Amino acid sequence: MAHTITLIPGDGIGPEVTAAAVRVVEATGVDVEWEPQEVVGHAAIEQGLEPLPGSVVDSIRKNGIALKGPITTPVGGGFKSVNVQLRQKLDLYANVRPCVSLPGVSPHFTDVNLVIFRENTEGLYSGIESFDERLQIADSTARVTRKGSERILRFCFDYAKKHGFKKVTLVHKANILKLSSGMFLQIGSEMAHEYPDIEFNDRIIDNMCMQLVLRPQEYECIVTTNLFGDILSDVGAGLVGGLGVVPGSNIGDDSAVFEAVHGSAPDIAGQGKANPTALIRSAEAMLRYINEFDAADAIHKGLYDVYDEATHLTGDLGGTASTEEFTDRLIERVRAHLTN
Ligand code: NAI
Ligand code: MG
Repeated sequence: MAHTITLIPGDGIGPEVTAAAVRVVEATGVDVEWEPQEVVGHAAIEQGLEPLPGSVVDSIRKNGIALKGPITTPVGGGFKSVNVQLRQKLDLYANVRPCVSLPGVSPHFTDVNLVIFRENTEGLYSGIESFDERLQIADSTARVTRKGSERILRFCFDYAKKHGFKKVTLVHKANILKLSSGMFLQIGSEMAHEYPDIEFNDRIIDNMCMQLVLRPQEYECIVTTNLFGDILSDVGAGLVGGLGVVPGSNIGDDSAVFEAVHGSAPDIAGQGKANPTALIRSAEAMLRYINEFDAADAIHKGLYDVYDEATHLTGDLGGTASTEEFTDRLIERVRAHLTN
């Protein structure tokens, strides 16, 4: 049966890395019908539309699944992040970001295997902001709810159990943010009793950043609120070779959007320099989500081959291959695993 999947190329390096991911998925032979949604973000505004047109959200609702490139968000003023809007509109509450070392990539660590679970719909990204013009005071509210906390914590504990992880670390700032971060910590600490086989601990966010940079091997599953998760996942990316290699999944009860951790990288856009690994790994997670395990395994093994041989790496990892050259080589390796 064909899978119909919404495809959002995005902007900046988005179209380059999504084209690569589409080629790799198609090389596995999985029957996919893409539903491309090209008019999003700045491109939509240029056509007099909302940055996130309703038709894009409708397509994902209908198909229940999307593969998405990054979309640029203006800094300061301008339109509200399309990425954040999408997660909120579709209630994609679990942002799952595995940071796993690839062979030969990281100069510092070779054995990192951790997964960051970022609450994806509330916290400081709730969009509750106000500005008092007269007093020149700006407020951004970090709204944390019991429902929102319970579902991301449950998701993390269940994922840990299902995937054989032994440790969950909850990251917070409950010493200062006594109510919002405090409630998140309290709910997590209580829920931990339901998972006696999983070791549970907590860390304050600032300490966690240092611990991760020094001893990332000591951590397995890390669960936290929206802003801390956003920041920690870039730290996690740095531990395993950078933003070019770290994938992500945004999961809700009714739909899922698969996208890399990185943004639109305007500094290298349109030059064929982007590393498509992060989005290809996101596509691998997408294939597992739709139970196409053989195809996902072939991509996984193919990636390890390409990193092992290290002859076709992109510039971010010290290589000279273009996005296309990397992808061509990967497809050769993926095909080899499919026929084995
Ligand atoms: P960024 O992740 O786009 O880039 C940070 C650095 O990493 C740059 O030097 C870039 O060249 C490099 N990099 C990122 N991805 C790479 C790849 N695949 N291969 C090689 N190098 C790569 O972060 P930045 O510059 O802070 O954000 C740019 C724009 O992206 C902003 O408008 C931001 O709002 C947006 N953004 C969108 C996201 C999304 O669509 N989910 C996520 C993060 C940022
Ligand atoms: Mg980010």
